[in-house]
Amino acid sequence: MDMETIFPMGFPPATAFYLSFYALTLLIHVVFINYVLGGSVYMLAAGWLDYREGDPERENVVASVLRDWMPFALGLAITAGVAPLLFVQVLYQIQFYTANLLLFHRWMAILPVLMVAFYLVYFSKTRLAQRLPHVGWVVLSGVIFAGFLFIAFSWTENHVLSCQPAGEWKSFYVSKRWFFQDREVLPRVALWLVGSVSNMITLVSWQLLCMQFSQAQKTELEVKRLSILAMATLVLAVVCGGIYLMVLSPETRQAVFGPLARIYLLAAGAGVVMQLAAWASQMRYSRFRAAWLVLASVGGVLMTLGVIVAREAVRLASFTPEQLKALLGQHARVETKGGFVCFLFFFLVNAAFIAGAIYLVKRNKMFARN
Ligand code: HEM
Repeated sequence: MDMETIFPMGFPPATAFYLSFYALTLLIHVVFINYVLGGSVYMLAAGWLDYREGDPERENVVASVLRDWMPFALGLAITAGVAPLLFVQVLYQIQFYTANLLLFHRWMAILPVLMVAFYLVYFSKTRLAQRLPHVGWVVLSGVIFAGFLFIAFSWTENHVLSCQPAGEWKSFYVSKRWFFQDREVLPRVALWLVGSVSNMITLVSWQLLCMQFSQAQKTELEVKRLSILAMATLVLAVVCGGIYLMVLSPETRQAVFGPLARIYLLAAGAGVVMQLAAWASQMRYSRFRAAWLVLASVGGVLMTLGVIVAREAVRLASFTPEQLKALLGQHARVETKGGFVCFLFFFLVNAAFIAGAIYLVKRNKMFARN
C-alpha cells in the first residue's frame, strides 16, 4: 500500500515538522561530510599521483587547501550531525535504537576511529607531517580516508539495518555477526562517496576563487582540472544512483518515484544538469567565475536535498501501514512534551562556555602580540 493511500491528506503536522527539520539539518551535515569524504579521497589520489611521478616538490594547491581546512570542516561536519541525530531519534526511535544495539561494538567503533582521524587531520598540518617522506604522506592520507570511509560505511550499515523487518533483526542477533551484509549497503556507500566529490569541488572552488587574486598562477592550473573532475564524478554518481535503484525491491523503487519523492527527484535531476552546465561553462575560462560557482552551488544543494528526500521515501517504504500509524502517534505524543526551561539552562551554560573560549583566544592573541 502506498503512502498516498494511507495518508491521503499528507503527513500530520507533528510528523511533517520533524521530517522537514530532519531533512534540512541532514542537508547541512551532508554538505560538510562531502568536503571531508570527497576531500580525503582527493588528498589521497593527489598524494599517490605525485608519489608515482616522483616529484615531491610539486605542490597541488587543491590538496594543500584541503589539508589546511580539513580539521575545521570535520569539526563542522560533526557538529552539524547532532541536529539530525536528535530528529532521527524522535522520528524512528525503535528502528534507530534497535540497529544501534544490534551492531553494538561495531557501532561504537565509530568513536575511536573518528578520534584518530580527527587527530590525524590536525597532525597532517604540522611541520613534522610536512617533512614526512612522500610514501609516508600517502600512508597518512590513506589512513585518514579509510577512517572516514569506515564511518560513512557504518552510518549506511546502521541505516539499512534499521529498515529491516523484525525477523531480520532476530536472525542478525542470533547469528552474532559483527557486520550487517545486505545488497543495498555497498551501492549506497558508493553513491555517498562518489556523490561527495562534486560538492567538495564546488566548496574548494569558492576557496580558490578567494585566493586567485593573490595566487593567480597556482589557481589557474586547477580550473580545467576541477571542472572535468566535477563533471566526471557527477556522471558517475548518476550511474551509482541507477545501480542503487536496481538493487531495491520493485515496491521500494516505486516509492522513490511515488508522490512523496517524485518532485524532489526531479529537483535532484535538475541540480545535476545545472552543475554539468556550470562546470562545462567554467572550464572555458582560465579563472574561477562567481556566476558559474553560484550555479554549481544551487545545483549541488538541489541534488543533495532531492537525494535526502528520496532516501526518506526508501525508509518509509520499509514500514508496514501499522508501523507507520504507530510512528505517527508517537510523533504526536512527543510534540506535546515541553522542556523549554531545560533548553534555556543548557543554552546559557553553552553560551557561557563559548564566550569563555573566545575570551581566552583573544587574551592569548594579545599576549602573543605584546
Ligand atoms: C567523518 C565523519 C562522518 C561521516 C563520513 C558521516 C557520513 C554519513 C553518511 C554517509 C550518512 C548517510 C548514510 C546513509 O544514508 O546511507 C550519514 C548519516 C547521518 N549522520 Fe553522519 N557521518 C559522520 C559523522 C557523524 C557524526 C559525528 C554524527 C552525529 C553527531 C552524524 C550524524 C548523522 C546522522 C544523524 C545521519 C542520518 C542517520 C539516519 O537517518 O539513519 N554523522 N553520515
